[in-house]
Amino acid sequence: MAVKLGVNIDHIATIREARKIREPDPVTAAVLAELAGCHGITAHLREDRRHIQDRDVRLLRGVITTHLNLEMAASQEMVQFAIDVQPDMVTLVPENRQEITTEGGLNVAAKTEELARLIMTLKNNDIAVSVFIDPETDQVKASKKVGADFIEFHTGKFSAAYEMGSIQDLSREVSAIQDMTVLASKYGLRANAGHGLNYRNVGYIAAIEGIEELNIGHSIIGRAALVGMDRAVKEMLDAIRRAEH
Ligand code: PXP
Repeated sequence: MAVKLGVNIDHIATIREARKIREPDPVTAAVLAELAGCHGITAHLREDRRHIQDRDVRLLRGVITTHLNLEMAASQEMVQFAIDVQPDMVTLVPENRQEITTEGGLNVAAKTEELARLIMTLKNNDIAVSVFIDPETDQVKASKKVGADFIEFHTGKFSAAYEMGSIQDLSREVSAIQDMTVLASKYGLRANAGHGLNYRNVGYIAAIEGIEELNIGHSIIGRAALVGMDRAVKEMLDAIRRAEH
């Protein structure tokens, strides 16, 4: 099974919000990512709206032609928004206002009743549901219990182990994701993964049998800022030259 790529375009919105103007537009970035061959677009509508805005998600729904995965907190307000916009999938993530990025997986095991209710509401409205969890037995079991269709393994610890260069830590984290993918499949849960994946470390996770999709943001958007820069600078020079007399 070919592993799919979902491109997370939040960072484009972060650049836009640095100036609170209209560009760069994450919707344009999503279309370019689709033209480059990605299989889906992921956007995280945070409760503090620090990057992606409601308008972005609504426009993405209308414009993209692949698969829209909306990451959001497990709250009644966000569920209502999702029902209104109808993404193909919602990924429930933990949210902490002070964090720079999503720091750990959702503790599904700690709030099964509340999550089961929210997930049922989403599924009754034709939205597939994924939960972003650490690769741990209790969390996989709880994800089955709450009725999720997918789990997304948080690969943050794996990518940190890769950066630290510890073969022992790296193989422990890869094994955890491998084992939990097998367990998920026994429970009929489909498995995705993401967070901190980059051009160097992605092969370890892409090689795991049963992983369907990888959601990647930072490394792709960061690289686009560099390898896409050549053209952006030349176009700006052209625009300046045209104005010169
Ligand atoms: N998956 C989830 C659930 C996330 O919250 C994020 C970060 O927003 C990602 C994947 C992508 O992580 P990164 O930007 O490190 O590739």
